Amino acid sequence: MTQRKPIIIGNWKMNCTIAESLDLASKLRDVLGGLRDIEVGISPPFTALSEVVKRVQDSDLIVAAQHCHVEDGGAFTGETSIPMIADLGCSHVLLGHSERRQYFGEDDRGVNAKAKKVLAAGMRPVICIGERLSEREANQTFEVVGRQLAGALEGLPASVAEQIVVAYEPVWAIGTGKTASTAQAQEVHGFLRGQLLEILGAEAGATVRIQYGGSVKPENISGLMAQPDVDGALVGGASLNAESFIGILKYDRQA
Ligand code: PGA
Repeated sequence: MTQRKPIIIGNWKMNCTIAESLDLASKLRDVLGGLRDIEVGISPPFTALSEVVKRVQDSDLIVAAQHCHVEDGGAFTGETSIPMIADLGCSHVLLGHSERRQYFGEDDRGVNAKAKKVLAAGMRPVICIGERLSEREANQTFEVVGRQLAGALEGLPASVAEQIVVAYEPVWAIGTGKTASTAQAQEVHGFLRGQLLEILGAEAGATVRIQYGGSVKPENISGLMAQPDVDGALVGGASLNAESFIGILKYDRQA
């Protein structure tokens, strides 16, 4: 069986001043030594990225941007390009988060174009997908996440599989306190694994990490991580507090 190293990333969204970001980043950096069996990342707001990268540069803490523009430069007021993010020293970029899809009109084609450019720039895309409540209730979950996954991976070679992270985040579970049950999560993760094997081939598809996201907290992480196709988590609210995020990172490995 392919061993996939778990990856847990905190998505701070539009929160934290530079001082707050540095405080949180320092606390996480300090516990990393005892957590060698997982990859740990944070995704601070753009305003704090530069300082945070400098603060953690001597550690293994991953620093991810939350968003990018697809063009390398030009008249796109307010946007940040992929070369600019690489220049900052980020190693990962979140793509297609449901909040970006909902409020900023992002779609699978855009995510696909950005994923290719992020990889070409030597960074790693964290591709976020997930169904809305109405879609789940209409039994369209597999159709929706299958389409999002295939769209995001279109034209990517199997050789990049290890550089890609997929984050399955049911929209109805984000910021609502409603986590998918462990069985609900595994059901979709298992489906996504099957799709990855088909799209990238059996060997490469088995190496892609699939994170779960949506109201992950210290109380529910262990059960989620015990599922065979849950390879990590994308954590929003609970990653803004050092104690709760560290509680998540120290999930029960035996569960
Ligand atoms: P949440 O957010 O943990 O606050 O539900 C997860 C996410 O949006 O990545």
